[in-house]
Amino acid sequence: MKQFAGRVAVVTGAASGFGLEFARHAASRGMQLVLADVEPAALDVATAELRATGAQVLSCVTDVSNAEQVALLADQAFAEFGAVHLLFNNAGVAPVGLIWEHSAADWQWVLGVNVMGVANGLRSFVPRMLAQSDDCHIVNTASVAGFISPTTMGLYNASKHAVVTLSETLHHDLRSVGSSIGVTVLCPAFVPTGIARSERNRPASAVSDQAPTEATRRAQAVMERAVSAGRLSAADIAGMTFQAIESRQFYLFTHPAILPAVAGRHAAIASGAEPDDPFGKRPALSPSAAITQAGIRLETGSWDALQAHCQAIRFRVFVGEQGIDPALELDEADRDCLHCVAWSGGKAAGTGRLLPGGHIGRMAVLPEFRRSGVGGLILEQLIVAARERGHRRIELSAQAYVESFYRRHGFTREGSMYLEAGIEHVKMWRAL
Ligand SMILES: NC(=O)c1ccc[n+]([C@@H]2O[C@H](COP(=O)([O-])OP(=O)(O)OC[C@H]3O[C@@H](n4cnc5c(N)ncnc54)[C@H](O)[C@@H]3O)[C@@H](O)[C@H]2O)c1
Repeated sequence: MKQFAGRVAVVTGAASGFGLEFARHAASRGMQLVLADVEPAALDVATAELRATGAQVLSCVTDVSNAEQVALLADQAFAEFGAVHLLFNNAGVAPVGLIWEHSAADWQWVLGVNVMGVANGLRSFVPRMLAQSDDCHIVNTASVAGFISPTTMGLYNASKHAVVTLSETLHHDLRSVGSSIGVTVLCPAFVPTGIARSERNRPASAVSDQAPTEATRRAQAVMERAVSAGRLSAADIAGMTFQAIESRQFYLFTHPAILPAVAGRHAAIASGAEPDDPFGKRPALSPSAAITQAGIRLETGSWDALQAHCQAIRFRVFVGEQGIDPALELDEADRDCLHCVAWSGGKAAGTGRLLPGGHIGRMAVLPEFRRSGVGGLILEQLIVAARERGHRRIELSAQAYVESFYRRHGFTREGSMYLEAGIEHVKMWRAL
């Protein structure tokens, strides 16, 4: 779909986050809008804002889990504007907790909104979009949780896996009937929106009769931190989504650093291995007695040679454990660096890199290999490489809690503590 002006966009979950940004973006392109949300007050605010820009807006309080209400939404949209060209099945909720601790009401609520909400949108809009025989596009908001299975997000994961597979099937079914309606399945990682406060949208009929457990409270805190630490904004996601609509891109991973975790899942499936926890949020394991320094093999090489291992380790440590935006974990500098990966028991256990200017960075060791000497061996390997490259001084930015580790390796602190990605850091250096 390339033409937007004068055409009609329907957005569910339009009062906040991605939905509001889709609506703003659509309005900026001259589209007429149908905004649907279950929160009447927030929907009124969004409607007023968009009307003030000159956009024609139909506003409908709608619970997407209710088939009759979505059918009514479609009736109203077609009655008002005569056509619908762009459909965003976007409304969603995201409670967290251990998979066996969710109540029956939790399951009904989340699958009702996240899965049935999309199904209801397709049932009510696609037949009429097909009949229009006009250029149309459908965006279903899934998540990276539609491809991986992070711990304490099981209910959400299940719902988003469903959105991915129903979107893939939608694409095939449309082609099978000769339709050219485009489909995009939007798969973001954590982005600051209202998603960590989904409880505000829980209907009285789905209120759980169980008090939140300790595990749920902890999972909720991790979720809030991860969402608020996201570096891409909802507006960034909307911009990328419109580009995907224009280029008819089906899978939209707005945070491509997640892809090694997806590839890791597929590799485990193909090899029959146990699934890996993609965010590595399990409690740190005590180091295995079998891991000795002698058993650790170091591999140094280019980004092309070691990228998959470096990314997988960095993803688990920085994104999964520390909640840092995945987009920050990849940068152009990686291509120019010397990388080191430590292997233990056949598994890539830790990594670090040496920048051309003599700066060591991205040191990360998987939790199950900590205190086994892996980090020290990587660091010393990179120091040797720096010396061989003629550097007289080496520098790094250390997360403050590992300052003593670097001190043990001859580094001195320079300057005071500062914040980077919301984490306290110190600058350190060592003469070579
Ligand atoms: N923010 C993230 O980190 C993230 C990442 C991946 C996927 N997502 C997905 O993005 C979508 C949008 O969420 P967001 O992040 O913008 O959160 P958000 O809470 O800011 O927006 C969600 C909107 O959906 C509405 N909503 C909730 N239940 C509804 C219902 N039953 N019927 C109609 N509307 C309802 C809410 O009122 C809200 O306006 C969701 O499907 C979410 O799962 C979000």
